[in-house]
Amino acid sequence: MCGILGYSGDRQASGILLNGLAKLEYRGYDSAGLAVLEDGEIKIVKNKGRLQALEEKIKSGYDVSGTCGIGHTRWATHGEPSEVNAHPLWSDDMSVVAVHNGIVENYREIKNKLAEHGYKFYSQTDTEAAVKLIDFFYKQEKNPLKAIIKAIKNIEGSFCFVLLFKDFPNEVWGVRKDLPLIAGQGKGESFLASDVSAILQDTRQVYYLDNMEIVQLKKGVVRFFDMEGYAKPKELSEVTWDMNAAEKGGFEHFMMKEIHEQARAVKDTFGSVYHSGKINLEEMNLSDEKIKNISQIYIIACGSAYHAGAVAQYVIEDLAKIPVRIELASEFRYRNMPLDKNALAIIISQSGETADTLAAMRRAKENGIKTLAIVNVVGSTIAREADSVFYTMAGPEIAVATTKAYSAQLIACYILAVQFAKVRGELEGSEYERLIGEIQKLPEKIDEILDEKERIEEIAYKFTNARNAFYLGRNIDYAVAMEGSLKMKEISYLHSEAIAAGEMKHGPISLIEKGMLVAGIMTQKNLYQKIASNMLEARSRGGFLFIVATRGCEALKEEADFIYNIPETDEHFAASLAVIPLQLMGYYVAVARKLDVDKPRNLAKSVTVE
Ligand code: F6R
Repeated sequence: MCGILGYSGDRQASGILLNGLAKLEYRGYDSAGLAVLEDGEIKIVKNKGRLQALEEKIKSGYDVSGTCGIGHTRWATHGEPSEVNAHPLWSDDMSVVAVHNGIVENYREIKNKLAEHGYKFYSQTDTEAAVKLIDFFYKQEKNPLKAIIKAIKNIEGSFCFVLLFKDFPNEVWGVRKDLPLIAGQGKGESFLASDVSAILQDTRQVYYLDNMEIVQLKKGVVRFFDMEGYAKPKELSEVTWDMNAAEKGGFEHFMMKEIHEQARAVKDTFGSVYHSGKINLEEMNLSDEKIKNISQIYIIACGSAYHAGAVAQYVIEDLAKIPVRIELASEFRYRNMPLDKNALAIIISQSGETADTLAAMRRAKENGIKTLAIVNVVGSTIAREADSVFYTMAGPEIAVATTKAYSAQLIACYILAVQFAKVRGELEGSEYERLIGEIQKLPEKIDEILDEKERIEEIAYKFTNARNAFYLGRNIDYAVAMEGSLKMKEISYLHSEAIAAGEMKHGPISLIEKGMLVAGIMTQKNLYQKIASNMLEARSRGGFLFIVATRGCEALKEEADFIYNIPETDEHFAASLAVIPLQLMGYYVAVARKLDVDKPRNLAKSVTVE
């Protein structure tokens, strides 16, 4: 997830771009850059690090005058954060210069084809492949619109591009697929941006681009085209949000915004390794030979990342039949357990900087164990030190309580489970296809659950003054219960415990009192009756039964105080759906208690000390 901008008008573009980028920095901040077109020449300035470094660089003598330009603030997905990988990127003769948000899934194929035509590549980005593809068609067509259309028809993935063409003064071009891009209309000037927060200081008059729509800015004129090249009429809208709401995409908190970004995070994470009908793990150094030789998996992580690993344990064991141990990094690093040399250690971390996780990974490496890191932040310490990396595509997460990164971690784990199972001969071809199909359907099902979020909001207010909660589950549902319970306690400060339901009778049941929130997760058919019995025991002691169950589950239909049905999916992947109402529950209880949802007390986004 990156922030992109375009400007065409009478004012100096660089200042406007810098102001706008400052508002988009929450979308990514590992590098920033801008390009300005003047007198048939495009000047580019870019920098590793935060926007401030770029600002200083421009002040210290770079000539970037001109009234038409594009800008970018980056969250690395392909290629480490560096100046060379920073945007804008350009074609060899600088005819086409672009900034990009999103992922070009088939960038390797594009690069290979363009290389046959003499194109050279200097960055590790997927963007460069797309820019040069647009340039390739531009050289034939001599027309930006036709070049963009031809290129976009050959690009797979979800993306937004904003472009300058050296021979077209005062023009900025944009195109979007699945990711947001808006155009702003000012007096004698016009804008493109990833979201309205970037242009709100200049105009409140915006156009929302449709999918696969192309836009052209020329000073105050904004024109739209479809993929056949025909001009399209479009209605202006007036933005009524204030600046604060605009940064959060109109949501009250980053956490809610990020909850809503989960479908996209899941889709992009899957899309990053799934090309032309196949999962490809070769970039992770996981050849079939290596996968076949894995005798044991250790999953090592902290907090929510550990909970994602707990789901993965069940899924990998069941599908790939490889023994899996899930380890808390803070425990693993100090334990003297005999380690299997043919094991694979899977390290899960959003930030890639968590001190215990890093230390545990180093310990595994010292013991000769191969490490695969599932990490969200490109270029983070864990990503750099691991033997190989599977990047989740959640984009920057601002809220301290993780939601979209956790969901993306689950997808990475499912992909490993399914692929390991296939390579090791544990899955028939058709079953493999079916499971892939089920993963692909998760994003729309996540959105379906979110469409009904008000139901959770209503019930959450009942627990504004609650003091204790239990989250019960068995098997994968227990792993989800752990995450649901953590979401509740970390942001609402309501004391909450996740309990493997079978353990209730061994002690915790003594804590149940009248009106206590007892959440039960029911997504595994063979365990419906078991968990139902545990829940009924809680109910007979006064517990309020809050059930998250797969549609069609009849158990507790009569007895539950509240049931939230999630869409059906393959049971291995049910965690991805069951967690959504639980995230919402934690969120709404925290809101009802008027707490600082995005920055809960005593917590930090990245735990870089022990
Ligand atoms: C909870 C949460 C934390 C993190 C944990 C590990 O919402 O965000 O529990 O999951 O601190 O952090 P990473 O994934 O950055 O290693």
